[in-house]
Amino acid sequence: MLIINSVAELNKHISIARSFGKSIGLVPTMGALHEGHISLVNMSVDENDYTVVSVFVNPTQFNNPEDLEKYPRNLEQDAELLQNAKCDVIFAPSSDDIYAPNELNEIFEFDFGGLDEVMEGKFRPGHFNGVVQIVSKLFSFVRPDRTYFGEKDFQQLAIIHRMNELMGFNIQIVDCPIVREESGLAMSSRNERLTADERKIAANISKVLFESLNFVPNYSPAELMQWVENEINKIQGLKLEYYEIANTKTLQTAESWNEPTVGCIAVFCGNVRLIDNVRCS
Ligand code: PAF
Repeated sequence: MLIINSVAELNKHISIARSFGKSIGLVPTMGALHEGHISLVNMSVDENDYTVVSVFVNPTQFNNPEDLEKYPRNLEQDAELLQNAKCDVIFAPSSDDIYAPNELNEIFEFDFGGLDEVMEGKFRPGHFNGVVQIVSKLFSFVRPDRTYFGEKDFQQLAIIHRMNELMGFNIQIVDCPIVREESGLAMSSRNERLTADERKIAANISKVLFESLNFVPNYSPAELMQWVENEINKIQGLKLEYYEIANTKTLQTAESWNEPTVGCIAVFCGNVRLIDNVRCS
């Protein structure tokens, strides 16, 4: 396994792999890898001849400087996990390798078609501009056949599908299921920042989400949103930011169970902001 830091070096190795007719899988990450990430890498290794995993904490997608500063970083440990998972290349650039100085101060413009106006986009203004900015760069550098994203970031995945279409990348985007801890807590790099007590409290998030499914279709989406809000607010140590039952394609609030729906939640557990989601219909 190679660890590559520069775009020029990455280009060289991608060209060599292509010249041997190898199919290429890309797994974009911000490091602090856990089993959820490794499940994406395993899929890529199974389905492609050559797997590139990017490890880059992208500054342009953080709207909160403290969140960026506290984001866990551990390349050595990540490299060990990726070596065991049979990854071929880790692409771990610095910000200077990726961005010209002016790019860090300018908002990357993209036509989200309204997908960014709700949920994460509403509460983290500019977040998805940064995500599209970095993912489009990674797609251009690697030009993979397939790329793997986790469904935990449901809205991100919807936006990446749109970006792939609008920008004409024509890459196969593989949606990968959420991987959960034994307690049901969705795996996330941010879980590392939870204390042992907070981790127990955070397990209630998925518990409430799964329990809510028992009320479909007897409650309307609006009633179920209220139910989840009440249940989360009853739990000491959790602070709800939003719970939204949305159409899986438009991400707008669902009116009925006749459309495909997903319940998306963002909750603070102490200072740590966690997201999760569950398919409702
Ligand atoms: O999901 C993430 O970890 C990040 O948003 C991504 C896709 C790697 C872009 O920085």
